[in-house]
Amino acid sequence: QSLKIGLIPGDGIGVEVIPAAKAAIVALGSDIPKPDFVDLDAGFECFTRTGVALPEETVRVLEEECDCAIFGAVSSPTRRVVGYSSPIVGLRKRLDLYANVRPVTSVAADPNEKPDVDLVVVRENTECLYVKQEELKHTENGKEARATRLITERASRRIGQMAFDIALGRPRKHLTVIHKSNVLSVTDGLFRETVREVPTLPEVNGKYNDVQVAEQIVDSAVYRLFREPQIYDVMVAPNLYGDILSDAAAALVGSLGLVPSVNAGDKFIMGEPVHGSAPDILGLDIANPLASIRSAALMLRFLGYVKGADRIDRAVDEVIREGTVLTPDLGGKGKTSEVVEAVLKKI
Ligand code: NAI
Ligand code: MG
Repeated sequence: QSLKIGLIPGDGIGVEVIPAAKAAIVALGSDIPKPDFVDLDAGFECFTRTGVALPEETVRVLEEECDCAIFGAVSSPTRRVVGYSSPIVGLRKRLDLYANVRPVTSVAADPNEKPDVDLVVVRENTECLYVKQEELKHTENGKEARATRLITERASRRIGQMAFDIALGRPRKHLTVIHKSNVLSVTDGLFRETVREVPTLPEVNGKYNDVQVAEQIVDSAVYRLFREPQIYDVMVAPNLYGDILSDAAAALVGSLGLVPSVNAGDKFIMGEPVHGSAPDILGLDIANPLASIRSAALMLRFLGYVKGADRIDRAVDEVIREGTVLTPDLGGKGKTSEVVEAVLKKI
């Protein structure tokens, strides 16, 4: 039996950090089924070369042949480019990867101590403003731009269920619902109510009774996140807030280059470092590979290969704790390749 893993490096440092995830998986040996990797194309470079940002062949191979995948990062221009649409947003929709699960964890100096920051952002991954229905009108008073923000009961319920499940599996069993329903009472109101109702659904059958639920308005959540990150365990949020919250939380643990994620659906799991293509450090061999490596571990954990995932995570934690081989984003002088070597040795 083998584990077929799609690799989509994408653009920028995606290309530099995906080999690290691959090497960490290979290093596990017989802890997982024999990995069988397939390289797949997507991204802005792919678009400029072929005219398509997300080739149909990539989607087909993922859907029909792969057990899981790891995505690097893509560069998306800040200005509209005709014909281009972000392939990661597209892939999440095409594969119905409705949850983006982003654990943000610091590493305590003493392995027996609890980390200062130990939270999971559970981000809705298919709707909100990311439905990308935007229009521009020219009026008497100049240009007028509008975007549709879609929140559905179905998507809110399934992300809610995912968040409750994740909370249930953690020692503190605490869930904070993030919203702005004091202002957006219809859209965020629906999200908030639907998530809060999850424990009362008949099919849930009391399963979440031990989960303690709190809620918080998104702006004050960011404030409290910076002042007292310890209060958070699992945070569930609509797409845009979740995107922003997880980058903010990454600052608390030292670098975006440390934070992994998985895009999860009922049928497919795709690991993905939270960071983007980081053109400012491209080609310098200083991109932090740890987010990518941790994304491989998180993907394996979601697939049920807990032992393998633990081995990778422990190796990464030890490298961070020792602090002798780290990339410049963490204050070190190490190269990407040296950090990868250090992690592989620990595995
Ligand atoms: P970014 O996440 O690429 O970089 C933000 C900052 O963090 C930069 O200073 C970068 O050097 C640093 N950084 C990020 N990852 C790092 C790593 N592994 N090691 C060391 N330092 C790291 O966000 P930015 O600069 O706003 O966006 C750059 C491009 O990435 C844009 O084209 C954007 O559209 C794209 N992007 C793609 C994402 C994806 O594919 N999922 C997510 C976020 C941005
Ligand atoms: Mg982001």
